[in-house]
Amino acid sequence: MNHFEVQGGELHCEGVPLTRIAEAVGTPVYVYSSATLERHYTVLRDAFVDAGLGQPLIAYAVKANSNVAVLRTLGNLGAGADTVSEGEIRRALAAGIPGERIVFSGVGKAEHEIAFALEHGVAEINVESEPELHTVNRVAQQLGKRATVAIRVNPDVEAGGHAKISTGKAENKFGVSFSEAERLYANAANMAGVRPVGVACHIGSQITDLAPMKAAFIKMRGLVERIRAEGLTVERLDLGGGLGVPYFNQPEPPSPADYAAMIAEATRGLDVQFAFEPGRMIAANAGILLSRVQHVHERPEGRRFLVLDAAMNDLLRPAMYDAYHDIRPVKPRGDETATYDVVGPICETGDTFTRDRVLPVLEAGDLLAFMSAGAYGASMSSEYNSRLLVPEVLVKGDQFAVVRPRPTYQDMLDKEHSAPWLT
Ligand code: LLP
Repeated sequence: MNHFEVQGGELHCEGVPLTRIAEAVGTPVYVYSSATLERHYTVLRDAFVDAGLGQPLIAYAVKANSNVAVLRTLGNLGAGADTVSEGEIRRALAAGIPGERIVFSGVGKAEHEIAFALEHGVAEINVESEPELHTVNRVAQQLGKRATVAIRVNPDVEAGGHAKISTGKAENKFGVSFSEAERLYANAANMAGVRPVGVACHIGSQITDLAPMKAAFIKMRGLVERIRAEGLTVERLDLGGGLGVPYFNQPEPPSPADYAAMIAEATRGLDVQFAFEPGRMIAANAGILLSRVQHVHERPEGRRFLVLDAAMNDLLRPAMYDAYHDIRPVKPRGDETATYDVVGPICETGDTFTRDRVLPVLEAGDLLAFMSAGAYGASMSSEYNSRLLVPEVLVKGDQFAVVRPRPTYQDMLDKEHSAPWLT
């Protein structure tokens, strides 16, 4: 459920008409609903509690939507943060999420990032390879610390979804095999700079079938039992993120309750503290990209292009993953429809949001919303074609705040410098 609904003939975010935001901030602009973020987080948290999983650490995956106000909204409810760079750790800290609720994941952590994480007392560094274990051990010792680590396993299951976002197969770059994990865990237990506390996995994103997750989690359970049988302690089991969301045309994903019940079944009797790293399921349907139609361009060959002021640099998912986003007019005119190719102004054909989409008839100046754009939308945006970074607005009830303003062209130019030999 989300809080983007038509009220009085006009699409609103909670109590705010989207036209008001477009007038105040301009377009394109991302708009996020606090109530939806809060709802998604609490529904998931309650599902875990109801399924008997205790009080897990729900480390929201910052990469999905890294806006500090979004992080603060979730952090205020008790969420932690799953981070993959020093920048993301800094964002989580800036949002008031304490180190003890921060997980540091990622296949290629730099030494300065590991040091930063340790200095801020992160809850867990998810170690993804043997060389990385040695690096963490060394950096921690240099700082006179002992790093709390989990070993990330690659469970080698096929989770479906787009090839560019599948992570759990042996051929992917993430994590180590089960046998390697056992060996690394035992090695880590003897290292002065690390303390292994658990094992972690994450098998992919936009997963709409619980079966591959269950298969992976049963394997993870076996791993915990084998490590414990060696006389070592395993306190934490981090099962990653990846639960899919409804993108309108996709199979309905399992509910948080079904997901939690599946986990309870796969891990029954295993006494561990759970951690999760959900991103998309919290943020995707809590945000939209609001855009304006520049013009309708009809080609004699019969194609009808809806040319928008938003482009692939603002919302990359369709170009990158052939992703489908529902498109809704902000003020629907009636029942008449037309077939459009919806495109942005960027100079390449990839800047096509969708082809042959049947939409209510739209005209130049009309506003429309790309739905389900709260995750991997603004966080993947760029200045390609020297377009200004898209601004972000957070709504709460009948209030809204610009939580990342649109930069000025001068801001954009000021980030660069000339070289001394250029006049
Ligand atoms: N944990 C780890 C280690 C991850 O790599 C990811 C996502 C997550 C958690 C969160 O997964 P989620 O719950 O959001 O599915 N840009 C792509 C998605 C990339 C996901 C990468 N890893 C997209 O727009 O579909």
